[in-house]
Amino acid sequence: MSEAGGVISNESAQVSIIIPTYNESRNIIGILKSIGENLPKNITAEAIVVDDNSPDLTGKIVEEYLKNVKKIAGYTMDIIHRTSKNGLSSAILSGIQRAKGDTIVVMDSDFSHPPQIIPKMIESLKKYQCDMVVASRYINGGKINGWTLKRKVMSKVATLIATKGLGVKTKDPMSGFFAFKKNILKGINFDAIGYKILLEILVKKSGIAVKEIPYTFENRSFGASKLDGSTITDYFKSVWKLYKFGKSEERGEKRNSVRFLSKASRFYTVGLSGFGVNYLISLLFAGGISDMWYLHANLIGIGASITTNFLLNKTWTFGDRDFSKKRTLKQYGKFVTFSSLGALVQLGMVFYLVDGYNLSYPVSLVLAVLTAAFGNYVLNKKYTFKEKVWG
Ligand code: GDD
Ligand code: MN
Repeated sequence: MSEAGGVISNESAQVSIIIPTYNESRNIIGILKSIGENLPKNITAEAIVVDDNSPDLTGKIVEEYLKNVKKIAGYTMDIIHRTSKNGLSSAILSGIQRAKGDTIVVMDSDFSHPPQIIPKMIESLKKYQCDMVVASRYINGGKINGWTLKRKVMSKVATLIATKGLGVKTKDPMSGFFAFKKNILKGINFDAIGYKILLEILVKKSGIAVKEIPYTFENRSFGASKLDGSTITDYFKSVWKLYKFGKSEERGEKRNSVRFLSKASRFYTVGLSGFGVNYLISLLFAGGISDMWYLHANLIGIGASITTNFLLNKTWTFGDRDFSKKRTLKQYGKFVTFSSLGALVQLGMVFYLVDGYNLSYPVSLVLAVLTAAFGNYVLNKKYTFKEKVWG
């Protein structure tokens, strides 16, 4: 895919608006203007047209326009030329790759998606502190104008497949009009089949916070929809892939038990090493290198073993290599607190079980040690190293 850009300005932009085109010669200049007129004044934005070598010369028309257009403050325009019709989703991804903004807006070029609501979409990202805003036809206040019954039914069926079949919570996951923070795409391995890039993001990043705002979809006045039979087979292909993706994620969930146990075994291996450190250091200071009182030497041994335990758990058990001072000290503080807490719980339990329940001392000791050790692992996992307990 060859991509040559006609860059008008290198100004940075906060918001990048991606506009894929295929045979949109009668719409594209109008929509570029309308977007410019409707942008909120307090932001810088760039429009990126992604054209697939449209036979009606959409790409050329945009190039000419960009040569002559007066620069509007805070609004720049750019075009990516791809060599052939490569599909809507992949066009959008090409645009995102070029985008300078950390907020992305995706929309069609045929006025079905009103540029008037772009400000509200951008504001809503902040206002609701969410990762994505979807302009929605299927929530209160949203609607569709000008579609045939057949097209409406197809859209509804596709939506039902996504919500019921793939468990997507968004009411209009088929929308082609949405805004999001670019960083949410990190780690997604895109299939980018056909039209449904939004659905793919919603399935593969199911944890993101999505807000829907209503809008009226107006059927286009110029040109024709590019949706055809192959778009529909593509849809089923992509749903099938996403379904399998969901299943493999579930298997990953089950492996949580394995992760939980393998980290636990590291944690307790570290604990054992702590005994060794404790013993050696305590001996060393009470005779080896100094003639300290044995209880003082033992205190140093305890301190040393807690510290080596902490460092080993941080780097090895939980794979945390961030040693910034503030973070490390905070973690160390918590680790020491939980260790002391564990000792207290152990003492308390032994006393309670032996004295209150008349259990034998060895049995009580085993129970108390197990409880303290388990608590220690879980508390440190969750609060010191900020991991999910299960996984
Ligand atoms: N570069 C590129 N390559 N652009 C494409 C391609 C392609 O292969 N296919 C379509 N486009 C562009 C069109 O030029 C248009 O700007 C936009 O993508 C949407 O295509 P339409 O053909 O107008 O789609 P639609 O109106 O039937 O459906 C739209 O609205 C639905 C409801 O929101 C799309 O946005 C759907 O994704 C959406 O579900
Ligand atoms: Mn359209």
